[in-house]
Amino acid sequence: MIPAHVPAERVVDFDIFNPPGVERDFFAAWTTLLGGPGLVWTTANGGHWIAARGEVVRALWNDAERLSNACLAVTPGLGEVMRFIPLQLDGAEHKAFRTPVMKGLASRFVVALEPKVETAARDLIETLRPRGGCEFVAEFAEILPLNIFLSLIDVPLEDRPRLRRLGVQLTRPDGSMTVEQLRQAADDYLWPFIVERLARPGDDLFSRILSEPVDGRPWSEDEARRMCRNLLFGGLDTVAAMIGMVALHLARHPADQQLLRERPELIPAAADELMRRYPTVAVSRNAVADVPVDGVTIRAGDLVYLPSVLHNLDPTCFEAPETVRFDRGLAPIRHTTLGAGPHRCVGAGLARMEVIVFLREWLAGLPEFRLDPVRPVAMKGGNVGACTILPLEW
Ligand code: HEM
Repeated sequence: MIPAHVPAERVVDFDIFNPPGVERDFFAAWTTLLGGPGLVWTTANGGHWIAARGEVVRALWNDAERLSNACLAVTPGLGEVMRFIPLQLDGAEHKAFRTPVMKGLASRFVVALEPKVETAARDLIETLRPRGGCEFVAEFAEILPLNIFLSLIDVPLEDRPRLRRLGVQLTRPDGSMTVEQLRQAADDYLWPFIVERLARPGDDLFSRILSEPVDGRPWSEDEARRMCRNLLFGGLDTVAAMIGMVALHLARHPADQQLLRERPELIPAAADELMRRYPTVAVSRNAVADVPVDGVTIRAGDLVYLPSVLHNLDPTCFEAPETVRFDRGLAPIRHTTLGAGPHRCVGAGLARMEVIVFLREWLAGLPEFRLDPVRPVAMKGGNVGACTILPLEW
């Protein structure tokens, strides 16, 4: 049923988990919503708003007073099960927990981690090079962020295969695990490390964060669990999706590969521009007060979906948004790939470093690569859109 406060001309039927044509092109499927009203109401998935113009996406992302993060809204049950810290907290409580997480991921630690990320990327590339090709998603994109995360929390190498299956379920759930089982598996895996780091802090990410007080008091075990869970779930599929899109772009644009090989000093700017051009994350908010916007009112209790793709690819926000121009990245780009406002990604610096290191190592370690002409690329929608199959050859 369409609520009375939703004008008929705002109503669409758009399934955010499966927009039409998403399996061929995630971005084209979403940008069909651009050019119309800035806020539409979709009847799919129980009915909710979608911000459909760049300036509206950005403004609502910044409106944390009236739009709550508490329930990870559109995916039924997910919020109640995950109870992520800091993602699902609002206001002063959010700030109290976000501060230690920000300190743990401060840029000096990201810089110190870079050699480990380089080694992880190089080792994987070495194994792939002699084969003349790979299925990039399963053989690289899903593995690199997992290895990096495990280095961050200082998990020994021999302990890693156990998290591999979990990692795959996080990035490419096949329905064999419920959300509850996934959370339980993540908690079972992480728990021994959390206990150890709470008792004997080391030099790793969990130790750094957990030794920072929350509003002057120590973390409880439940809070520690929810925070570690947030970091694990927040930093795997997002990074895998990002480097998948970057690899897809370069495979389709050999001139860009050549330019970055000849001028590697452009790689940081290229990383920023590619992150703008290929935004895959969308978030949900729950209105806790009425929000008048774009000529309509989001009523308290309504859900609203904020897709970064409809900001970054809106021609009213970026000139020729679908064109990749590395010189855009020479100045800061105000994209929303990593969010905006008080919940902006705490892993932003780490994510950017991972993309830069990926570009540097992949281009240095492999000859020109292209799409496999026989096996097609496949994509999926969802809160994190991604390539699910990306066959490359070189
Ligand atoms: C390219 C990779 C990444 C993308 C595209 C991405 C995207 C985002 C976005 C859009 C948000 C905002 C969520 C919201 O407004 O509700 C966010 C928040 C967050 N991200 Fe990332 N992220 C990435 C990598 C990472 C990494 C590597 C980590 C951790 C190691 C991480 C941890 C988090 C956490 C904990 C939050 C919650 C912050 C808060 O609520 O204050 N992310 N991310």
